[in-house]
Amino acid sequence: MENRGRNSKRLVLVPGPFQGHLTPMLQLATILKSRGFSITIAHTQFNSPDSSAHPDFAFLCIPDGLSEQEVRNPDLAAIVLRLNDNCKSSFRECLSQGTNHTEPGEKICCIIYDALVYFSEAAARDLKIPSIALYTSSAATTIVRPILHELKAQGHIPVPDSMLQVPVPLHQPLRFGDLPTFNFGSLDYFFEVVALAYNLRPSSAVILNTVHCLEESPLAQLNRKYQVPIFPVGPLHKFAPTSAASLLQEDTGCIPWLDKQTHNSVIYVSLGSVAHMSQDQLSEMAWGLANSKEPFLWVIRPGSIPGLEWIESMDEEFKECVKDRGCIVKWAPQKKVLAHEAVGGFWSHCGWNSTLESICEGVPMICQPCFGDQKVNARYLTHEWRVGLELEGEIERGTVERAIRTLMKEKEGEEMRQSVLDLKNKVDFSVGDAGSSCHYLSELVKLLTSL
Ligand code: UDX
Repeated sequence: MENRGRNSKRLVLVPGPFQGHLTPMLQLATILKSRGFSITIAHTQFNSPDSSAHPDFAFLCIPDGLSEQEVRNPDLAAIVLRLNDNCKSSFRECLSQGTNHTEPGEKICCIIYDALVYFSEAAARDLKIPSIALYTSSAATTIVRPILHELKAQGHIPVPDSMLQVPVPLHQPLRFGDLPTFNFGSLDYFFEVVALAYNLRPSSAVILNTVHCLEESPLAQLNRKYQVPIFPVGPLHKFAPTSAASLLQEDTGCIPWLDKQTHNSVIYVSLGSVAHMSQDQLSEMAWGLANSKEPFLWVIRPGSIPGLEWIESMDEEFKECVKDRGCIVKWAPQKKVLAHEAVGGFWSHCGWNSTLESICEGVPMICQPCFGDQKVNARYLTHEWRVGLELEGEIERGTVERAIRTLMKEKEGEEMRQSVLDLKNKVDFSVGDAGSSCHYLSELVKLLTSL
């Protein structure tokens, strides 16, 4: 049970209902709890977090009215829009009843909400409770998203092939092909979400899961453009290393397997919690890994290959070929994996959490962005921080094999390993007592205390 301190202030935190959003919000909650705040996690029924993993928090389930069919919709923007429509009044009602998540007479001093669940901000305004948005993407993505409408009006989105390599003015190193757009689902829904969720509101403060030393220029742009306090307090997991947030069961059996491998020898492969791959891509990835002759740990999420439950159709010849060298799991304890000394490279979709986790463990990357902010992150990894190489175009076994060899065995890979270790040291300093993230965290706590 939550220990409700009589004198402490209560914060309500509303995570976005996807793994990459839930994780940073629960980490933030853990940090703020350790700074003396009482915490309520208000979450949708859809993708609800495991309350038993967080006995220190109160949990409030917001009826979201999503049907089974709506939950299975692969168009994430459609889910987000529906959820926001459905939750605004139910959330307001939950808060105004206030029976099961506050002490009698206790006031909620602030609602911290993921930008995706913007219904929270509307409810907070109605109830006259201050609110702060958490943006779970990088500062570079956060600053570029609001210009997407303008670019669409100019005919640049969807991005024509002739523009893919053209630099986006004022947003170097991004090219038009790196803009955080979706290549699936309805473009109209996507733009509605961009308008409703990702236009920074002028009245509120903003928390970002990023760190000054990684994103000095986009953070400066954000500060110039928006007259709101901006708190880059990341990487949040460095301040809350034990926060558990997995929606899927982690297979810890891969750790003893890693224990048997040599230092920096294993390539870890995961495309995150949302991306899908076709059966052809699966086969090309598999044979690229097999032909590279390097040991690998590969996460393949059940349901991530349309038409398959898991990997039942995988080639027997492949399985035989990699049986002593490969470990395939449904979901891994990723942070432990990246921290393992056997792991020498991360082939990733470049979700922002994965990007930060890899940098923090000094692991260079092979970048295979699938959609949205992943393309921005991949561009920064490869061309700004120079700690990763990009797999461009169709996934093909020869390209995969070469990329793995380059990263794990060649001088170019060695240089990336050195660069990512330098970056890791900078981030370590930023989260230390004299570092920028630590400073912004103290400022955030001061602001919350004053509300
Ligand atoms: C989604 C979007 O894809 C991403 O672009 C956006 O930045 C956040 O939302 P997701 O695909 O979930 O993110 O990727 P990412 O942001 O990297 O988050 C995945 C999280 O799941 C990471 O914290 C990672 O550690 C964890 N994970 C992943 C596991 O714990 N085990 C796994 O096997 C794979």
